[in-house]
Amino acid sequence: MQRSPAEGYQQASLSEQKVDGEDFIQTDVCPKAEDVILDLGCGTGELSAYLAELVGPEGMVTGVDPDKERIQLAKEGRSQIENLSFVEGSAINFPGIGAEVYDIIFSNYALHWMTNKQQVFNNMFESLKVGGKVAVQHMSYLPLFDYNAYVLLNPENAERIFRLFHFESKTKMERYCLSAGFDEIIRSFDTHCKGLVFETVQEFLEWQWSTTCGLFNPSLVTEERLKKYLAPYTDEDGKLSLDFRGTKHEKVTVCRLTAVKKDKKHL
Ligand SMILES: C[S@@+](CC[C@H](N)C(=O)[O-])C[C@H]1O[C@@H](n2cnc3c(N)ncnc32)[C@H](O)[C@@H]1O
Repeated sequence: MQRSPAEGYQQASLSEQKVDGEDFIQTDVCPKAEDVILDLGCGTGELSAYLAELVGPEGMVTGVDPDKERIQLAKEGRSQIENLSFVEGSAINFPGIGAEVYDIIFSNYALHWMTNKQQVFNNMFESLKVGGKVAVQHMSYLPLFDYNAYVLLNPENAERIFRLFHFESKTKMERYCLSAGFDEIIRSFDTHCKGLVFETVQEFLEWQWSTTCGLFNPSLVTEERLKKYLAPYTDEDGKLSLDFRGTKHEKVTVCRLTAVKKDKKHL
């Protein structure tokens, strides 16, 4: 039976979103035992499950995502984990919204999928306890290798794929964060992606398909289109390198923002 885009994402995210997400969690999110965490835009839940391990049995993690199928996959095989739950919802509709119940609101590679980011930051602020932390990892631009993949390999679908994303700069995100009421930005910086290396063309095309929720269609990728796309990534000996972590081709970066809610919003 053919895989769904959500199943494809579960597999594909292991080499990119999960790698960068775990690194962010270890260096900047730093959850403590007993923390209550919201994972906003949790996808298929790999990082929510990792956070649940870190907060231990006295902590609690809730993963929220609007994609029904991804939430279904997130739940599968994890029903025994008592401090972890998954709920279909969104940045404007999640458990505990506005109720100051979370120690940490974490969001990995999801903010650039959301519109009205000021509202999203307001909701996160109002849902955190005083002393709570927001920790967001997001893309501020569409990497060139993705842009070219859509335009050269799937020109029929490129416009629709572009409409999936809502990129905004690091500075703008900081502004939303401060206007929402966060008193102190702990860190806000760009860092190189640590995943983003593809062993085969097939793996790369599947990644494009699943990360665009099935809009990128590998069957539209003709030999001729592929040849043109791959040319910059092929050396004189014909050796292909689809490595976007910081090679000569492209150094893809991602933004990390952490901030603390020291007090209720001063009106
Ligand atoms: C690239 S995936 C990241 C998933 C997961 N955080 C990870 O690291 O693997 C982006 C996710 O954001 C979700 N998303 C899109 N719009 C959203 C919204 N308005 N509120 C919450 N999540 C949203 C998508 O359904 C998708 O699962």
